[in-house]
Amino acid sequence: MEIIEPQQDDKLVLKQTQASTSFQYKYLLVRFFPFLKPFLGRAIINFAISLPAGLLDAVTAFAIQPYMDKVINAPASPQRDLYAILIPFAIIAFAIVQGVVKYLNVYLTNWTMKKVTNYVQKKAYEKLLTLNTRFYDVNSSGTIISRFLTDPIISASTILDQIKTILTTGIGSIALVCVLLYNSWKLALVGVVVMSAAIIPAAMLRKRILRTSNASLAVTGDMSTNYFETCGGNRTITAYNLGGRQYRIFDNQIEEIFDLHMSLTKRVALASPSMFFIASIGFAIVLWYGNHLILTGDMTIGKFASFLAALIMLYKPMKNLGDTLTAIQQFFVSLSRVFELFDLESEIKEKENAKEITGINDAVTFENVNFEYVKNIPVIKNFNLTVKKGETMAIVGNSGGGKTTLVNLLPRFYDVKGGSIKIDGTDIRDFSINSLRGIMSIVFQDNFIFAGTIRENILMGRPDATEDELKAVVQSAHLEEFINTLPDGLDTVVGERGTSLSGGQRQRVAIARAMIRQSDIVILDEATSALDNESEAIVQKAIDNLMKDKTVFVIAHRLSTIQNADRIAVINEGELVELGTHEELMQIEGGEYKHLYEMQFKQQEKKTAEQSEQSEQAE
Ligand SMILES: Nc1ncnc2c1ncn2[C@@H]1O[C@H](COP(=O)(O)OP(=O)(O)OP(=O)(O)O)[C@@H](O)[C@H]1O
Ligand SMILES: [Mg+2]
Repeated sequence: MEIIEPQQDDKLVLKQTQASTSFQYKYLLVRFFPFLKPFLGRAIINFAISLPAGLLDAVTAFAIQPYMDKVINAPASPQRDLYAILIPFAIIAFAIVQGVVKYLNVYLTNWTMKKVTNYVQKKAYEKLLTLNTRFYDVNSSGTIISRFLTDPIISASTILDQIKTILTTGIGSIALVCVLLYNSWKLALVGVVVMSAAIIPAAMLRKRILRTSNASLAVTGDMSTNYFETCGGNRTITAYNLGGRQYRIFDNQIEEIFDLHMSLTKRVALASPSMFFIASIGFAIVLWYGNHLILTGDMTIGKFASFLAALIMLYKPMKNLGDTLTAIQQFFVSLSRVFELFDLESEIKEKENAKEITGINDAVTFENVNFEYVKNIPVIKNFNLTVKKGETMAIVGNSGGGKTTLVNLLPRFYDVKGGSIKIDGTDIRDFSINSLRGIMSIVFQDNFIFAGTIRENILMGRPDATEDELKAVVQSAHLEEFINTLPDGLDTVVGERGTSLSGGQRQRVAIARAMIRQSDIVILDEATSALDNESEAIVQKAIDNLMKDKTVFVIAHRLSTIQNADRIAVINEGELVELGTHEELMQIEGGEYKHLYEMQFKQQEKKTAEQSEQSEQAE
């Protein structure tokens, strides 16, 4: 079996294996610090008040000793009566303070946690918007979404909670250990050593947690892809009865997550009884040794009771520490995945002193352009072409020949691998990316309509266009008649991806969006999918209006479009094979264009002729 090697060091591919930095705690924390920094003030106040919040248990345990020795086990006296009232009241008073502090603590923790999460998510989304086209080619939508949605939340939200837990339980545990030491250092030594040993089972799970979290996050990504395909491809799924297939994919994914979850649970669940077992050995030793100390007169009963209370209370934070370790490990996994996102680098870079371009004065030139998507598989080969300002260049050729690819190089969706593209003699890579894209309007082969109104979708071309300009493009794009039939007119909401529009209507909305941009260069990738004759004609009119007085690159699939073009470039397997006017190209005996014309366009010509004949007869 042939093994397909992944492309080495592809900086845009999100790795599904464990992020390599998961164990580099220091590195990760140092990189994380800037995200915490803006909220550091509140975070520190929060951490500071976490400290007294952790002390309650120790104070209660500590209070047992004087209560036993000075009240319960003491002879009657006024002092004894005073203690009998004072100690319980002190505990209540302390609890009230505690309550206020804990409330503030929870509030502040949530505030900072949300703020840090938002910050990380905003940065991640910003990153997502800057990544170039190839990133979206090489990563599935599910992988991208789950990576950008889930990981920043896990990483940012767990850490503060965990720091708080460590601080509260840490300070609480230290205080409890002090109570132990105060009551009997010998007994404390036995207790603390055994209790510490109880953490070992939890600590041993580190690697396992890392692997499982990573794997289940990866499967979650695949699951999202499946959901997206179910939404986007629902018609195909229904038409081809693919429900069963989709269900099986989903079923496998969800069961895989279950298995991963259970394999972790098996170990995590085992850790808890192991800890309890070790702790109870400690407890047994303490009981036996404590009894011995009381008998020899080394310890009072009050001290022993206080000691036991503190020891029992110590078990909980110790056990929590196990959970905390798990959560922190997950935090580091997510954090390293987040930084992997931040390290993704768009390949389309802007030069430092990039020039602004405001329009075209002379020509667009392709000079020896070479391009490949996959290494050593050239898609555009030594391509040379000059398109003068105001000229309409039709690009025709075989399917998969590289027409779309060629025009995608102009707005720098991809950069050329060799040669250059120049506007007025300047390499397009010398212009700022926004200004370069600003002088182009593009109508794609399949156009994306956003969920929202038709007005919003058109105005995306130029948000500050006036109402009159909007009206004008609606007319030029031949949308007026259709829009007049809608109850809400331009403010009619079209579904996600424009599902409530017909193919022709979607195209015309996209044409209107391009028109309102009023840019010098128009790039038009005609849809290959055939429309019915009537909408074909109307879309054609809209296209004609769009191309008027512009420098146009039009990938033509319609006869009428090439007829309107000034020149025609024929591309075959990434090479420019013929260039000229329709008449010139038709002269070439056995030429590529002549062949294409006879195969593809002549039929259209016949059809159009028949139609006009029919309509004439009808009249
Ligand atoms: N994102 C991509 N990643 C890898 N290969 C691609 C990508 N896009 C296109 N290709 C490949 O590049 C070649 C040229 O594709 P392109 O879309 O430019 O053809 P085209 O001439 O526009 O075809 P059509 O007339 O069918 O639209 C094809 O072999 C295609 O498989
Ligand atoms: Mg194409």
